[in-house]
Amino acid sequence: MLYRVVLFSTCIGLLVAENVLIDHNIRATNLKITNGSTTDANSISYQAYIDATTLNASRSCSGSLISRNCIITAAQCIEGAIFINVWIGSRDLSDTNSLQKLESINYTIHENYDSETYENDIGVIYLSHINITEDMEILELPTQEEADSTYYDEFVTVSGWGKVNETVTSSDVLLSVNSTVVPDLMCWEAFGYFPINDMCTLSEKGACQGDMGGPIVLNYKLIGVISRVEDSCKEGYVPNISVKVGYFLDWIRSKTDIS
Ligand SMILES: *[C@@H]1O[C@H](CO)[C@@H](O)[C@H](O)[C@H]1NC(C)=O
Ligand SMILES: *[C@@H]1O[C@H](CO)[C@@H](O)[C@H](O)[C@H]1NC(C)=O
Ligand SMILES: *[C@@H]1O[C@H](CO)[C@@H](O)[C@H](O)[C@H]1NC(C)=O
Ligand SMILES: *[C@@H]1O[C@H](CO)[C@@H](O)[C@H](O)[C@H]1NC(C)=O
Ligand SMILES: *[C@@H]1O[C@H](CO)[C@@H](O)[C@H](O)[C@H]1NC(C)=O
Ligand SMILES: *[C@@H]1O[C@H](CO)[C@@H](O)[C@H](O)[C@H]1NC(C)=O
Ligand SMILES: *[C@@H]1O[C@H](CO)[C@@H](O)[C@H](O)[C@H]1NC(C)=O
Repeated sequence: MLYRVVLFSTCIGLLVAENVLIDHNIRATNLKITNGSTTDANSISYQAYIDATTLNASRSCSGSLISRNCIITAAQCIEGAIFINVWIGSRDLSDTNSLQKLESINYTIHENYDSETYENDIGVIYLSHINITEDMEILELPTQEEADSTYYDEFVTVSGWGKVNETVTSSDVLLSVNSTVVPDLMCWEAFGYFPINDMCTLSEKGACQGDMGGPIVLNYKLIGVISRVEDSCKEGYVPNISVKVGYFLDWIRSKTDIS
């Protein structure tokens, strides 16, 4: 357990990302950059399932526990939300004994979030009364020294309850894959755009609908927040775009009291 020692870390400070994350139906192409594979999600205990409701929609997303009462997610997940429910405490969404359901007390999204370009796609959900159990971990943030790291070639863990394949739109059990951080150019080439302050990862399986806002983790540090603009998960090695947490350390601190 990696409990963050933060006393009274206050989060001052509500709906769907479409279902996105692990597509197990993806076939490898000749672009074999990484050895992506489904990995055991059993050690992942920092992830929250998020259901956010706007006036005319509902979105399922993920988020990461970064303090006793703060969840980091993507701005696209919560923008315009009037109501946010968060479930945390189990990797299995049918495990109602372990899951804690919390209503957000508030939320905030990055002031410069752009819903068209997905720049600054980051937000914080504030909760109260999370019962931090032995089965929960609070993720560290990158250090200031790591803030500018490109993380190229690092093996990172990506996880979510999102779309599994063409027919299965979500998974009750958290799924996880290892992915590799690759140069931004690969995302530029794949999508024709690449938000500043973002990070590009590549593996055979990856994020899909329902996985937005979820964690990209390296050594128990939250280095990325899944963000994407594609509506569908393409076959083969298609890179994924995530917000680079290192660029937002000051913003996160200013919104959360995490030092
Ligand atoms: C809660 O969110 C609203 C809207 O974003 C904001 O005006 C308010 O200051 C927030 N409350 C706290 C306690 O941060
Ligand atoms: C990919 O897998 C092959 C065969 O298992 C292995 O030799 C190679 O080192 C792996 N590459 C990476 C980057 O893990
Ligand atoms: C409802 O959804 C439509 C299409 O997404 C959007 O244009 C409209 O602004 C939304 N209305 C409200 C009240 O959120
Ligand atoms: C936290 O634990 C208390 C005491 O056991 C319980 O009353 C409360 O409902 C729990 N909160 C959640 C969100 O499960
Ligand atoms: C989709 O995933 C489910 C669950 O893993 C699996 O049972 C099913 O065969 C898959 N469907 C396709 C078309 O791959
Ligand atoms: C996935 O990453 C974890 C953490 O680095 C590592 O322990 C595990 O061996 C990796 N799995 C595969 C299949 O590469
Ligand atoms: C994420 O990566 C997977 C695996 O390459 C790919 O199938 C999927 O389309 C990517 N998702 C997005 C939104 O780009």
